[in-house]
Amino acid sequence: MADILIDRVGSTLHLTLNRPAKKNALTPDMYTVLANSLNDAAGDFSIRAVVISGAGGAFTGGNDIGDFLNTPPSGADSPVFQFLYAIHAFPKPLLAAVSGNAVGIGTTMLMHCDLAYAGADAIFSMPFVTLGLIPEAGSSLLFPKLVGHVRASEIFLTGRNFGAQEALELRLINQIADDPVATALEMARIIGEQPPTAVINTKALLKSGHHEAVTRVMEVEGELFRIALESDEARMAFMNFLSKRAQG
Ligand code: COA
Repeated sequence: MADILIDRVGSTLHLTLNRPAKKNALTPDMYTVLANSLNDAAGDFSIRAVVISGAGGAFTGGNDIGDFLNTPPSGADSPVFQFLYAIHAFPKPLLAAVSGNAVGIGTTMLMHCDLAYAGADAIFSMPFVTLGLIPEAGSSLLFPKLVGHVRASEIFLTGRNFGAQEALELRLINQIADDPVATALEMARIIGEQPPTAVINTKALLKSGHHEAVTRVMEVEGELFRIALESDEARMAFMNFLSKRAQG
């Protein structure tokens, strides 16, 4: 089975992160498929919205930690940054359906989604600092903008998890749903019946106040993130994670 499943449901493109044995941890190849799918969907008039979900009871464990250690992204043309720019620039409605863990980029990508639904079992986390890293995907701007400085600081600086109810209170998701994929697909269908140019222009207007600022902050984060990946703090944290798993 492919690590990204690509399905059409009416006018919706449904992308499923499908590496369940590794909690759908994201590899460079997966980022490339996601970025290409989004870029193709942007230019395909028949696609009106995209839904992203995860297979096997998890959204994603975040970036593959082995890849962080062995093949860290080296520049703005790296697959992870191509994916981040693709979600940031995606002109059509982007919806997320979260079940289980949404770690790192699994939570920060939600800040680029227009609608998000989560199961009651969802666990969100952005353990960048805990891993010796810094926030990415524009989240150092988007998260405090969404939740306020003190709550963003507490979550980023402690690296703590939070559940679906808190995600709802933080306005990271629209709703806790029994079946988040079905709910996201239904919302995508409803939006897909709206006049498409009005939808695209409305999304652009909703993002216009901070779009350029997010582009700039993503560039700064990208530089700092690449430096942090090479640091002793980060490499120790990655090796700890991998050795704990190797010991079972
Ligand atoms: N990179 C590489 N492998 C990962 C991974 C990641 N980000 N997330 C999970 N996996 C792997 C585990 O190593 C394990 O592999 P194994 O069975 O070969 O040992 C498998 O996925 C299942 O994970 P496990 O930890 O046993 O599941 P869990 O339900 O106990 O915990 C998580 C799930 C997501 C909380 C936990 O795996 C985790 O903390 N992952 C790392 C998250 C992270 O720090 N990501 C980077 C963010 S920037």
